[in-house]
Amino acid sequence: MVTAASLQKVLEHYTASDWRADRVFITGDLIQDDSPGAYDRFRELLLPLNMRMHCLPGNHDVRDLMRKVCGVPPFSYCAYEEVHNWLMIGIDSCISGEAGGKLTSAEFDRLTDTVNSSSAQHAVVCLHHPPVAMGSVWLDTVGLENGDKFLQHLQSLDKVRLVIFGHAHQAYDAEHNSIRVIGTPSTCRQFAPGSEDFAVDDSPPAYRRITLHSDGSTENELILVDA
Ligand SMILES: [Fe+2]
Repeated sequence: MVTAASLQKVLEHYTASDWRADRVFITGDLIQDDSPGAYDRFRELLLPLNMRMHCLPGNHDVRDLMRKVCGVPPFSYCAYEEVHNWLMIGIDSCISGEAGGKLTSAEFDRLTDTVNSSSAQHAVVCLHHPPVAMGSVWLDTVGLENGDKFLQHLQSLDKVRLVIFGHAHQAYDAEHNSIRVIGTPSTCRQFAPGSEDFAVDDSPPAYRRITLHSDGSTENELILVDA
C-alpha cells in the first residue's frame, strides 16, 4: 500500500465531512524508511489542517528527524497543552532499536510532574504502545512492557480520563481502572485482530473523532475510510 496516498484519503474524508476538530493526536509510526523526505511529505500532507497537532514517536520513527519537523508549530513533539479544563500530554514509550516499548522512569517522572502541576481537572495521555493486551500473540510481545504499572500509575494521578495509543493497527476501546483506553486503526493497512502470527487484513484506513467534555467524560466515534 502507498501509505501517503491512503493518508491523503483519510484527510480528504475529514475535510469533506461537516465535523471539525480543534486538535489532532498523531500517535507515532509516521514513516517507515528512515528518511528526512518522509517527514517532509508528512508535514506537507498535514499542514493544510491548520490546527495544533500533537505528535509522539513510534518504533518506526527516527527521533532526531521527527523532532525537526514535529517540534515546529503547528506540530508539537511529546508536548503538553492545557485547553479549557483538559490537560493533553504526549509520552515517548519507545526503546531505540526495538519494536516493543517501555516507559522509562524519566517519562514516568515527566508525566507525573506535568499532571500534578496542571490546574486542569482532567487529562488525556497519548503514547504509541498499547498499555493493554490486544489478544494477539505476536503483537502482545511488542506492546508496552510495563503497561500494568503505567495504568496503575495513571489511576493514582487521579485526573487521567483517557489514554490514546497507536501501534496496533486495529480498533480498541475499553475501560481499565475507570480510565478509557482507545486505539485506532491506522491510516494505512490494518493488522488482523487475534492473529497468532503477524498478519494483515482488508479493513480500511481509519481515524477517530474524539470529544472531551468539560465534566471529564469523553465520546469517540471510529470513522472507517473506504479507500
Ligand atoms: Fe509501532
